[in-house]
Amino acid sequence: MPLIKISDLNKSYPVGKGKFAALKHVDLTVERGEMLAVMGKSGSGKTTLLNVIGTLDSFDSGSYLYNGHNVKKMTDGAKASLRASEIGFVHQDFLLMNRKTAAQNVAFPLYFGKTPYGKIKRLAADALSKTGVLEQADKHVTDMSGGQKQRVAIARAIVTKPSLILADEPTGALDRATADEIMRLLLELNRKNGITVIVVTHDIEIADMCGRIVYIKDGRLMES
Ligand SMILES: Nc1ncnc2c1ncn2[C@@H]1O[C@H](COP(=O)(O)OP(=O)(O)OP(=O)(O)O)[C@@H](O)[C@H]1O
Ligand SMILES: [Mg+2]
Repeated sequence: MPLIKISDLNKSYPVGKGKFAALKHVDLTVERGEMLAVMGKSGSGKTTLLNVIGTLDSFDSGSYLYNGHNVKKMTDGAKASLRASEIGFVHQDFLLMNRKTAAQNVAFPLYFGKTPYGKIKRLAADALSKTGVLEQADKHVTDMSGGQKQRVAIARAIVTKPSLILADEPTGALDRATADEIMRLLLELNRKNGITVIVVTHDIEIADMCGRIVYIKDGRLMES
C-alpha cells in the first residue's frame, strides 16, 4: 500500500465572492521510502499541495489516502495526531523559537505526545546527533548559522520518528554549499532511516538529488 495516494484532487481558495482553483485534478502516488522533488514556478501550487499532503489544509473533491486511511473522513483531532506522530515539517525560514536553545526546540514536539518526560532530553539529543548539531544543543537559535538552524529544524522534524518529511524550500535561505549539505542530510535520513521525503524546490540541482521529480504548473501536476 502506498504511503500517499491522491486521486483527482481539487482544491480552491475563496477569493472575494468566487474561488481560485489552486490544485486541479491532481493524481499523485508516493511509495514508502521515496525521495520526491516537487518543482514549479512561484504561485503554481507547491505549498498548497504540501499543506494538503500534510493534512494542514482541506480539499474540495477527489480522494487522499494516507497509508490507506481516508483523510477526507478524519476528524480534526485525528489529523492532528496523524501530523504529530507521522509527519515532520521543514520550512525555508526554519520556524524555530529563537529565544530557546536547539535542544528545547527539538524537544518541543515530544511534549504533545506520549513520550515519558524522563526520555525527552535523550530523544532530543539523539535527533540533534543524527543531524550533526549535538554540540550546539545548548546554544540559542539566534546564535546559529542558517545551515545549523536548518539542521536543528530537521532534528525537530525527526524527533517523533515520522514516516514522512515534508520540506518546503528547505534550502531556499541557504548558500549553494550549505544547501547541498542539507540535501545530503535529507537523503541520508531517507536512505538510512527509510523516511519518505517530499521536497519542494525551484532549484533543478536540488531536485536532481531526489529519486523522482514531479512538476506543478497552474495547479496541475505532471510527472517528469
Ligand atoms: N490562502 C489563500 N487564499 C487565496 N489564494 C491563495 C491562498 N494561498 C495561496 N493562494 C494562491 O494559490 C496559488 C498557489 O499558491 P502556493 O502558495 O501553493 O504557490 P507556491 O507554488 O508554493 O509558490 P511559491 O514558490 O511562491 O512559494 C497562488 O496563486 C496563490 O496566490
Ligand atoms: Mg510556496
